[in-house]
Amino acid sequence: MTDDSRPAPPRDRTAAVIPAAGRGVRLGPGAPKALRTLNGMPMFIHAARALAASRSVTLVVVVAPPDGAPEVKSLLDTYALPANAPGEGWGSADFLVVPGGDNRQESVRRGLEALPQDIDIVLVHDAARPLVPVETVDAVIGAVRAGAPAVVPALPLADTVKEIAPAAPGDPEPVVATPERARLRAVQTPQGFDRATLLRAHENAPVDGEGATDDAGLVERLGEPVVLVPGHEEAFKVTRPLDLVLAEAVLARRRVNDGY
Ligand code: C5P
Repeated sequence: MTDDSRPAPPRDRTAAVIPAAGRGVRLGPGAPKALRTLNGMPMFIHAARALAASRSVTLVVVVAPPDGAPEVKSLLDTYALPANAPGEGWGSADFLVVPGGDNRQESVRRGLEALPQDIDIVLVHDAARPLVPVETVDAVIGAVRAGAPAVVPALPLADTVKEIAPAAPGDPEPVVATPERARLRAVQTPQGFDRATLLRAHENAPVDGEGATDDAGLVERLGEPVVLVPGHEEAFKVTRPLDLVLAEAVLARRRVNDGY
């Protein structure tokens, strides 16, 4: 007997939204972070390529710096040409560019507004995580297809984490708690969602201050379940100058190992 009150399982047309509108202040002066190059190619192109490499992803929406949409479009045209990416996995995804907002939450919202109606599953992926392996992308999509409304790749922590209370500038920060490390996870992207759940989460979340830095957190606020799948050490976020060194080293290792 069928139970008609159950939500229909998600179909599988999948789009990726890539917020790439941040300034990247912690990386030091220069171009917006997503436009800086790794191995000669802009970081957001690496990220777009990583998502488009999944056979399931049919559309990639890049959210550009507010004044940078024409430049992002022309870079996508340059690097998306097969002649410029011989044999590399662009799959058959289409690309769209929209201008971003003042914070990540606003940028993601603008990306979501650009999605066509026939998309069922949405991935949100930081342009600042250019080296995520396609296996991680597919694991996230697979868990959403299996019925989870929100899926996050995550890794155990190497460092112990302290919770602090705010202190006056220059004063030492008082520690208020030490959460049990074994129960903590560092979360990455792409985060994957049943489209309707993610839209509801964004509609219900007013943007205040810095806005949300994590889409799954908005789904948690709805009271909907969020589950984790294993993340990957190469899906780290390029934030500080040392991360650029690490990213170049990962790319060099890939070139040696698989002729990437
Ligand atoms: O600053 P942070 O590294 O946390 O940014 C995470 C991602 O969100 C980056 O890919 C960045 O480009 C994006 N972002 C955005 N719009 C903003 C701020 C950040 O798309 N206004």
